[in-house]
Amino acid sequence: MNEDLHRALNEHLTLEFAAAHHYLALSIWFELNDLPGFASWMKQQSQDELGHAQRIIDHLLERDLEVTLPAIESPPTSWPSTVEAVQSVMQSEQRVTRSIDRLQEKATRTGDRAASLMLDWFVAEQVEEENAVRALLGRLRLAGDSSLGLLIVDQEMAKGSIPGAMEEPEP
Ligand code: FEO
Repeated sequence: MNEDLHRALNEHLTLEFAAAHHYLALSIWFELNDLPGFASWMKQQSQDELGHAQRIIDHLLERDLEVTLPAIESPPTSWPSTVEAVQSVMQSEQRVTRSIDRLQEKATRTGDRAASLMLDWFVAEQVEEENAVRALLGRLRLAGDSSLGLLIVDQEMAKGSIPGAMEEPEP
């Protein structure tokens, strides 16, 4: 594997682990704020992010390449509102998407078909994840300032009925 691509894949692990931490912090905050549906959704997302990091680690190991685990900064412990909390998720996902796109460009440029194939899964996953967060923001916009509306969205989250929210693309 090209050295620059190898380094970039290791660096990308920071974003996946940071996303896992961020989702877990949100899950804790929502649990403390009596929104168990949001809390459970965020916890599931956190576990998915760890799975994403593991996919990259496995790919590097299968190719007998070194893996460097990153130090992860502490995420915030609270957010000014539910909408802002979910907007912070969108920003984080968009950051991951940009990084995946850059990785895919490097893999393509260096003719690394194996890495490119592995990254295709992530390209599809990011479309799903951004779509799920966008759907959630849409529901929150409809709920507006209504506590009842927020409770209804929380129940939808508990049932996993936000589009694409609980699904991972096929391997
Ligand atoms: Fe692994 Fe949600 O990006």
